[in-house]
Amino acid sequence: MNKTLTKPITQEIEPTILTRTSTNVATVTNTSTVTNAPTLGCSLRLDDVCLEIEGKQVINKLSLSTDIKRLGVIGRNGSGKSTLSRLLSGLIETSSGRIEVAGIDPFKDRKGALREIGLLFQNPEHQIIFPTVLEEITFGLRQLGQKKKAAEHNALQVLNNFGKAHWENVHTSTLSQGQKHLVCLMAIVAMKPNLIILDEPFAGLDIPTKKQLRRYLDKFSGSLIHISHDPEDLHGYEQLLWLEGGEVAALGSYDEVLPRYLSEMDTLGDSDDISDLAG
Ligand SMILES: Nc1ncnc2c1ncn2[C@@H]1O[C@H](COP(=O)(O)OP(=O)(O)OP(=O)(O)O)[C@@H](O)[C@H]1O
Ligand SMILES: [Mg+2]
Repeated sequence: MNKTLTKPITQEIEPTILTRTSTNVATVTNTSTVTNAPTLGCSLRLDDVCLEIEGKQVINKLSLSTDIKRLGVIGRNGSGKSTLSRLLSGLIETSSGRIEVAGIDPFKDRKGALREIGLLFQNPEHQIIFPTVLEEITFGLRQLGQKKKAAEHNALQVLNNFGKAHWENVHTSTLSQGQKHLVCLMAIVAMKPNLIILDEPFAGLDIPTKKQLRRYLDKFSGSLIHISHDPEDLHGYEQLLWLEGGEVAALGSYDEVLPRYLSEMDTLGDSDDISDLAG
């Protein structure tokens, strides 16, 4: 994708440390020499965010403040990762607390959220609404205000870029799960958001498709939040957010957070209590 960020490049983020302030806000502090110039990447500010669904506290007093280019999100089944992705995209409202992504409240500013943030759902069945691939990809562009002809032209261009021009008139219902995932990703990419949130984007993809997507994502000039159960997917990511029971268990560099997470998961996996594993 050709889109470039308007913010100037000032620094690559170096290994980071997690600080819990007196107000319990997880803040990532850059340990490299910090300049006063704005950092590259998308700002993420969560202030005491709570979400209750059907009487259950799914997100609990989540506070964090960071600027991200590549953020991996890890955590056990049911820890709140997908729910957080929906909150950050503005698809659902918090029960209390404040969310700011790239300077906007994504739930209140729907136009801004549409422009800035693209979310790839964990389940493509929940995302696809149109009968054909071209219609599906064109829809997002029409929502951005593009005229029908221009939107179709741009959608075809994206299909071409992914080597899927022959999918233009394919019925989405006839595609496999992995192919549907790819359609959803192309629809998001077509909209050129500054931040893409990926909820298990590689689930169900074959090895070549996963490799191609990985290469594409590595080249993406915007920011990525990538939820995955496979740490290998997040290799090279500058920060990891570890969620546990809807709360921040850790936020820091990949090298700092991952060993702690894997050790904890190993211990839990070795325990006999399957009810605990079910979350
Ligand atoms: N619409 C809903 N109604 C009731 N409970 C919900 C709903 N959505 C999410 N939850 C609950 O919120 C918790 C977090 O769910 P979420 O899907 O965010 O977890 P996750 O970390 O993405 O899990 P996984 O790794 O399995 O995808 C779970 O306990 C889930 O049952
Ligand atoms: Mg999930």
